[in-house]
Amino acid sequence: MNNSIAIDGPAGAGKSTVAKLLAKQMGIHYLNTGAMYRALALLATRNGIAFSDEQGVGALLVNAVITVFYQGDEQHTVLNGEDVTELLLSEQISMGASTVSKLPCVRDTMAALQRKIAHTDQFVLEGRDIGTNVLPDTPYKFFVTASSSERAKRRQLQLESLGQSVDYNAILKDLEIRDKQDTERSYMPLKMADDAVLIDTTTLSIAEAVQKIRAIVEGR
Ligand code: DC
Repeated sequence: MNNSIAIDGPAGAGKSTVAKLLAKQMGIHYLNTGAMYRALALLATRNGIAFSDEQGVGALLVNAVITVFYQGDEQHTVLNGEDVTELLLSEQISMGASTVSKLPCVRDTMAALQRKIAHTDQFVLEGRDIGTNVLPDTPYKFFVTASSSERAKRRQLQLESLGQSVDYNAILKDLEIRDKQDTERSYMPLKMADDAVLIDTTTLSIAEAVQKIRAIVEGR
């Protein structure tokens, strides 16, 4: 059995921040699995392959090497030897990641890679299918969510802090398209595992969400 911690939920719910802080407090690693799908979307863009082209994206993936390393608390994502972390946050790559992640061959390869990483140590893994597919046996499953307006607001602040100028309504629309795509894809959709604990961060601070999760994991 794996005792890593699974954190799933929709875009912008605060999963990454929660996962990172939780891992730091517990002295374990964290893995942002969305970054791996984003790296593949970047690779498709660079090669002029449509995100929905299963054969084309599948062929790219066969030869792609996607790895991560950590600098302080930050995960860096490496695509074929290049640190692409900074290139993964645009809205185009967000949507691309959501689209390539619908492809069964992509999901199977990514899940296997993530499982392999998680089995090297105790991790906090965050994504969309960690509790349902990547680590179905872990006893620690959480589904972190928030209202779509709150998620769009947070995403706007995040992009603005990176110097990107963004329109709130455009972000909200993109989030809703991504939610629809992620929850309605036919293969391994975003879904709360039956045995996951729901953490709604609409009115909870990140620190409070982390405290709640820790109390459960540590049996307090
Ligand atoms: O967590 P994120 O927003 O960086 O993820 C980008 C996209 O990748 C998301 O819209 C769906 C996909 N994804 C997935 O299908 N499964 C995961 N475990 C992580 C991300």
